[in-house]
Amino acid sequence: MILLDGKALSEKIKEEVKVEVAELVEEKQITPGLAVILVGNDAASATYVASKAKSCKNAGIYSVVHEMPESITQEELLETIARMNENPKLDGILVQLPLPKHIDTTVVLEAIDPLKDVDGFHPYNVGRMVSNLDAFLPATPFGVMRMFEEYGIEVSGKNVVVIGSSDIVGKPMASLLINAKATVTVCNSRTKDLAFFTKAADIVVIAVGVPHLLKADMIKDGAIVIDVGINRLDTGKLTGDADFEDCKNKCSHITPVPGGVGPMTIGMLLKNTIKAAKLREKREKK
Ligand code: GUN
Repeated sequence: MILLDGKALSEKIKEEVKVEVAELVEEKQITPGLAVILVGNDAASATYVASKAKSCKNAGIYSVVHEMPESITQEELLETIARMNENPKLDGILVQLPLPKHIDTTVVLEAIDPLKDVDGFHPYNVGRMVSNLDAFLPATPFGVMRMFEEYGIEVSGKNVVVIGSSDIVGKPMASLLINAKATVTVCNSRTKDLAFFTKAADIVVIAVGVPHLLKADMIKDGAIVIDVGINRLDTGKLTGDADFEDCKNKCSHITPVPGGVGPMTIGMLLKNTIKAAKLREKREKK
């Protein structure tokens, strides 16, 4: 069994990013900049945001974390985004999700300049991604595709089952796999016989937030398991959506949790921020 080591791979990506940032600064006098908006007091979101800011700093990317209280109105949030859209120091804008219930996430995501949408959640980028055009790609599925590439895993012609159909992971994951010529099945919580689908899969990508849902008797010998789940057990331990101990002797490759897909996400966000900075440079030249 080969462990897909996202932690090591993300370090390599962060080194690539450092080099690209240094080139942009020296050759084009551009320092890439990222704004992260954090609304409310969700502890997990605060941890993710702090980690994003730290990674930016290490890579030489300028970053600002804009914290707003749970009680802000949608209008106030939209005004903040409008100002950031106009701020030439900011190449990327990311609104950490989930947002409080009184705020309409769709309206907020649509307010971000699509050319600064480093999360790839604006319908402009979603549409371009589905059409296989150049776009900002959502960081988690983008990271999974990079992992396949780095480990020499060919997805073309493979049967891939994606479990979970969220806008952040499942749907974009399916799109990227379709573009890469995989045969893709997307399952969700209403799927009647999940094992029927997963047993036929060469690759299973699971992102549902149910600890240890995927068991060895649900996969075929030599399957590749990509576990996007991060669940905190009552013991405080982090664990994935796949039962790692059960699956590890049956599959050919598996991502650990933690240390698998998770670390890749930040690496790809940094990559998207550089892409945004390069787009700015092109626009400024015109
Ligand atoms: N919440 C969970 N994952 C993500 C992500 O990739 N981007 C943002 N903005 N919020 C998230």
